[in-house]
Amino acid sequence: MTLVLGIESSCDETAAAVVSGDGRVRSDVVRSQIELHAPFGGVVPELAARDHLRVIVPVVSEALSRAGVALADVDAIAVTQRPGLVGALLVGVQAAKGLAWAAEKPLIAVDHLVGHLLSVFLRRDGDPAPEEVGLGFPFIGLLVSGGHSAIYRCDGPAAAQIRELGATRDDAVGEAFDKIAKLLGLGYPGGPVIDRLAPTGIAERATVSLGVPMAANKSSLEFSFSGLKSAIARHVLGASGPHTDAEIADICAAFQKIATKTLVTKTILAASMENVSRVVITGGVACNRELRERMGVSCRERGYDLFVPPFKSCTDNAAMIAYAGTVKLAAGDVSGFDLAPVTRTELARVTRKGRGIR
Ligand code: KG4
Ligand code: ZN
Repeated sequence: MTLVLGIESSCDETAAAVVSGDGRVRSDVVRSQIELHAPFGGVVPELAARDHLRVIVPVVSEALSRAGVALADVDAIAVTQRPGLVGALLVGVQAAKGLAWAAEKPLIAVDHLVGHLLSVFLRRDGDPAPEEVGLGFPFIGLLVSGGHSAIYRCDGPAAAQIRELGATRDDAVGEAFDKIAKLLGLGYPGGPVIDRLAPTGIAERATVSLGVPMAANKSSLEFSFSGLKSAIARHVLGASGPHTDAEIADICAAFQKIATKTLVTKTILAASMENVSRVVITGGVACNRELRERMGVSCRERGYDLFVPPFKSCTDNAAMIAYAGTVKLAAGDVSGFDLAPVTRTELARVTRKGRGIR
């Protein structure tokens, strides 16, 4: 069985993992920079790059030792090449190149978004094989994170087999969670806090009125989240005094309800338009309980099979990069030492930011 060391440093997590070709996670180390960026309410690119540089070597060593292997035992080194912050990506790419050169192993470039979409195939602690639970291609993948929000049709694990059906025209949904939490004084990252507070509020009681994004075009698979953020910003900045905890909880409930309903409606629409009955959700926002619940209900109603990876596979990690690496290694898709980071995904985009479908 092939064994791949994966390295991830595209944003604010420094991560390394060892995964075998059947998706079994042998080790999965994630060092988060949340505390570093929290005072700024968002990721500061320069600080991210410097911190990756500081911890990348110990993180890789820990991943190898937890897996009980030496660098010589792995068959390849996979690294997130794109998309992401260029300085952050550079640290992982250079580290992977150095290790691959020193150990004379193949170097494999992975697109972070492909990694997220394939994270559903990771097997932790005795998880069954994908085919035993009916998981396989094709599937409709909703990828929702701090940097990306899109729906894909996945016909196979290669980038050429993954087609964007629709994406956000403006903010990613995780970015909206983070910015709204910042406006409400809830700290960073916003997703987990809003997830926790929303069930304590009542959406219908919220004093802010939030319109359904892209309501006019019911057949569109594109999203827009910046309007929700602006409505809440106007409401907060126009308020005469500070909001009570109950008012804040109501706003969280209202925003989360409308955001998750939009994501579910469009994903189900995509599945029906594409005639695909498997649905996968992944990315940090896929940790959201209301999203999981609503998607579960809608998929059951229509007889679709829903696959949601555990939290640690949804948020940024290197296990998904290592797994995507095993797939590329099997296909003979390896990179040269001239590998350089790229800020954009290799997946073809159909949605143009701020414009809509081409
Ligand atoms: O996938 P991820 O770890 O990193 C990116 O590639 O962006 O996603 C991070 C995003 C953040 O915006 C965070 O607020 C959001 O995922 N997030 C959540 C939850 N947990 C994390 N959003 C909503 N509900 C959650 N429970
Ligand atoms: Zn991510």
